[in-house]
Amino acid sequence: RRVLSVASECVPLIKTGGLADVAGALPAALAPHGWQMRVLMPAYAGISAKGARSPVWQTDNLFGGPARVVALRHAGLEMLLLEAPHLYDRRGGPYLGPDGYDHPDNPERFAALCWVAAEIAREGLSDGWRPELVHAHDWQGALVPAYLAYGDIPVPSVLTIHNIAFQGVTARERIGALRLPEGAFNDGTLEYYGQISALKAGILLADRVTTVSPTYARELLRAEFGMGLQGVIAARGAAMQGILNGIDETVWNPGTDPGILPFSVRTLKAKAANRERLKGDFGLTDVPGPLAVVVSRMSWQKGLDLLPEVLDGFVARGGGLALLGAGDADIAAALSGVAARYPGRVALRTGYDEALPHRMFAGGDAVLVPSRFEPCGLTQMYGLRYGAVPVVAAVGGLADTVIHANKAALDAGCATGIVFTQVDALGLSQALDQLCNLYAEPGVFRAMQRAGMKQDMGWRRSAAAYARLYEDIAR
Ligand code: ADP
Ligand code: GLC
Repeated sequence: RRVLSVASECVPLIKTGGLADVAGALPAALAPHGWQMRVLMPAYAGISAKGARSPVWQTDNLFGGPARVVALRHAGLEMLLLEAPHLYDRRGGPYLGPDGYDHPDNPERFAALCWVAAEIAREGLSDGWRPELVHAHDWQGALVPAYLAYGDIPVPSVLTIHNIAFQGVTARERIGALRLPEGAFNDGTLEYYGQISALKAGILLADRVTTVSPTYARELLRAEFGMGLQGVIAARGAAMQGILNGIDETVWNPGTDPGILPFSVRTLKAKAANRERLKGDFGLTDVPGPLAVVVSRMSWQKGLDLLPEVLDGFVARGGGLALLGAGDADIAAALSGVAARYPGRVALRTGYDEALPHRMFAGGDAVLVPSRFEPCGLTQMYGLRYGAVPVVAAVGGLADTVIHANKAALDAGCATGIVFTQVDALGLSQALDQLCNLYAEPGVFRAMQRAGMKQDMGWRRSAAAYARLYEDIAR
């Protein structure tokens, strides 16, 4: 059985966030269920199509220039790279230009990706492959269901929402340029407060909609989390479901990770050597209490702006913090201010680093994720796997993956972390206080680390859920 996945990023080719991890992990997760998944993604500058077979699809005019799709096997993935130099071969990242602002033609760039996906569904590739189903991700993939519907292409689709904060909203005047019918605006399918919303159209037109945790699926029905689309989500009723992300347990395995000093549930003591190494990496000299880590995009979503307010108390109790983040310059400036106040105790690295997070989860006693909303979140799961106890806000996938250390859970030996419900400085500082208390009881803390390391966070169960969904809607 054949499914086409449509994503704007995919590991190991390109990653700005968790979507890339998920897009890169799904094919191997679905394979045991008999689904062959090929991943269609733009060929951004710097992505080499070396070793690609001859083009499997092409056109003279894809939103203003020639384009072709080349097939490539890369790191076990069947990639379909969309080469359209006028859209993708340029400086900057997948979404932002070198100036830090959105590429002005992002609506067209990702509409083009969706258009090609729909054409592949219609006519198949020149190597004879044709999907029975299309699985699109986020707003960048959300026009796939629209082109399928308006092009009368009888191939079913699934849309997965990884983050409703990004909706692909653009001016109504662009409707023709996006190759969408006026009628779709007038009947409200595309229309969002007078503009076009790619995500709204995708939610309404996909056969099924999923999001990346059961709790986020429920939160999306509420105004606090739905970001204006709560009514649209509600309209889909039971066609919407939450399926929790997994992690790639071959990449994230403390027993075999080549970047760390290996350890396991049984040899947890060996974490201490990783802790020393991590202190060296960040120049942390003096951390008598819990050493916490943060690996995160720096944006309002992630709640990192709360840290400067709470670190005085945490550091006073012996805590230390190693932080790796990329993104918002104001948040970075505030955090480097705190780091300067506490040399040897708090340290910040900015930028994107592939290897460092492995050493951070391996050496950290705790991982902090104080997100205001979090569709799933992956770093708390990496932390669990590596014995870094998660301290997380009670939202989205964080609430679904961490078992709070209340008395009953501690007594039963199933607590894996600290979950705080009041996502503000007071809530976070109380959670950090509890972390210090638990850390001061080594037996209790070890038991929590072990319980987390034993938790099943692989893709097995969620892959089965996707497979059931595919079978429900595939022709
Ligand atoms: P989001 O997708 O919202 O950013 P997730 O927790 O789902 O949040 O995924 C983030 C992913 O990106 C994780 O794999 C995390 O390890 C990684 N990551 C985040 N920031 C950095 C960074 N500065 N350097 C390297 N990896 C990072
Ligand atoms: C988004 C969300 C994050 C989720 C990831 C992968 O980037 O912000 O919570 O884990 O997608 O689904």
